[in-house]
Amino acid sequence: MSRILITSALPYINGIKHLGNLAGSMLPADVFARFKRAQGHEVLYICATDEHGTPAELAAAAAGQDVRTYCDEQHEIQKRAGEAFGLSYDWFGRSSNEPNRRLTQHFAKVLEEKGLIEERVDRMIYSVDDARFLPDRYVEGTCPHCGHVGARGDQCDNCGRLLDPTDLIDPYSSVSGSKNLEVRDTRHLYLLQTKVEQPIRDWIGTRADWQTLARSIAYKHLDEGLIDRGITRDLKWGVPVVGPDGGPRPGLEGKVFYVWFDAPIEYIGATEEWAEATGRTWRDWWRTDEGADDVRYVQFMGKDNVAFHT
Ligand code: 2FM
Ligand code: ZN
Repeated sequence: MSRILITSALPYINGIKHLGNLAGSMLPADVFARFKRAQGHEVLYICATDEHGTPAELAAAAAGQDVRTYCDEQHEIQKRAGEAFGLSYDWFGRSSNEPNRRLTQHFAKVLEEKGLIEERVDRMIYSVDDARFLPDRYVEGTCPHCGHVGARGDQCDNCGRLLDPTDLIDPYSSVSGSKNLEVRDTRHLYLLQTKVEQPIRDWIGTRADWQTLARSIAYKHLDEGLIDRGITRDLKWGVPVVGPDGGPRPGLEGKVFYVWFDAPIEYIGATEEWAEATGRTWRDWWRTDEGADDVRYVQFMGKDNVAFHT
């Protein structure tokens, strides 16, 4: 009899892609959870909606809703769909809930104290008419290499070349079609992954229970070399970046964390939601120094998710 913590990759709040998550991550996790419960183990199976990011914001705008209302509705739809499929998770949380906000800000604070986060100034495309910075893939234009019209700012789908949005000829915002674009300075937090490449490699080496495929995907990314990653965005919807006093951080006002920074933390956040709702504790499922040393943690995810989870 042991304690088994199970999580399945969190479905994005927007779109109908949750069927892919259902088949790829939630269904296998559910089968595993049922099997382990039937064997008499104590199982905690956690899932949630992954709610932040530009796609959610744009989907809400397309639906004519404010993003909070949109996410409230979509969360209920996905929760009901999971129940209708008979998924046996113990909790289906939301990455936009308070525990994840607090934990995400906490992780960022600790990483920064350890010298693993720093501020940098980027030059990014600003759409004057949309009144927002545009992520690379929301800038479109003509590919400078092959002349393809409608190439995205991150990559040309015709010739496959990786692009910088400033390379595009006749760029426009794919949000509004506006050509009124400027390159502006904007300050962001960077996660200094180059500093942790070796510790991560060493740590993976200690995880004897990892599947071969997951391990090889993780090593492949390490072999290609990690880069320092911007982990904040100029968006309204997300976990706000805060200063030491919990208020807006000077120079980073109005910024939120990148969705892939807060999403994996929601596995813990959702456990906290479950604990609050059921009068249990979450720490003894997650913290080896607070009683979780006997917990076996099993994650279910698609292979594209391995790098972010590692
Ligand atoms: O790829 C996806 O569908 C992501 N929404 C998975 C997130 S899993 C976890 F990190 F939140
Ligand atoms: Zn091209």
